[in-house]
Amino acid sequence: MKNLDIKLWTLQAKGQIVPDKSLLKTPEQIEAIRKSADLNTAVLDHVAAHIKAGMSTADIDRLVYDYTVSHGGIPAPLNYEGFPKSVCTSINNVICHGIPDEQEILMEGDIINVDVSTILNGYYSDASRMFAIGQVDERAEKLLRVTKECVELGLKAAKPWGHLGDIAYAINSHARKNGYSVVEEIGGHGIGLEFHEDPFVSYVTPKGSEMVLVPGMMFTIEPMINEGSPDFFIDEDNGWTVYTIDDGLSAQIEYMVLITEDGVEVLTK
Ligand code: MF3
Ligand code: CO
Repeated sequence: MKNLDIKLWTLQAKGQIVPDKSLLKTPEQIEAIRKSADLNTAVLDHVAAHIKAGMSTADIDRLVYDYTVSHGGIPAPLNYEGFPKSVCTSINNVICHGIPDEQEILMEGDIINVDVSTILNGYYSDASRMFAIGQVDERAEKLLRVTKECVELGLKAAKPWGHLGDIAYAINSHARKNGYSVVEEIGGHGIGLEFHEDPFVSYVTPKGSEMVLVPGMMFTIEPMINEGSPDFFIDEDNGWTVYTIDDGLSAQIEYMVLITEDGVEVLTK
């Protein structure tokens, strides 16, 4: 047996949750996924350069579709489990999975999450950013700042041979300290060879709990931070859009990361 197998087996024997070997990417896979992730970042940069008050979320969808396809990629959300568009656009009290719409116009003071996922040569990448449309009020500004801090603290807590729960703890405690809550039932995921792979990544679990972080693992850090209650409801008509139950603001930032031998690398953000 190889050293890695012995290490994983020993941890498992001690009751730790360890990743299946199929979740550990090979150097060749990492190179291919990196190319997908680079395109994903370029799509987000393209959105960042054009997003402004007065445009519709359908305009954002067209920016994403056209840029992705003209660079040889496929937008991963398009037709994914019936999702009808190329990107998720989630404004103000929408937590995630907002569907771009011609009638939905960005207004000065809005905050919006644009969640971009890309397939390139069969390899998957995924990241999202928050955008403030024009001048936003202090409430929105604080939420955007704290959400960014949460993800950065989560990233700092990600260490090879640590645990997913270390990331969750860093995120959840910073959110709570600022009077916010973290959505519980929706989380991050493994990614690379598929859009959504194991593990499910919670941002509310305790330090030292959940899966051990093994070099070669790839997953997303994408907490949803709510001003008020962490609870939500899903739009009954479209089956996708997730709203805060109390109409409070929600923000989300998503980084896609790779656990390495000596740390963590952000692949797209
Ligand atoms: N980053 C989001 C996620 O992992 C993207 C969802 S795309 C959708 O859940 F098609 F599922 F909406
Ligand atoms: Co994701």
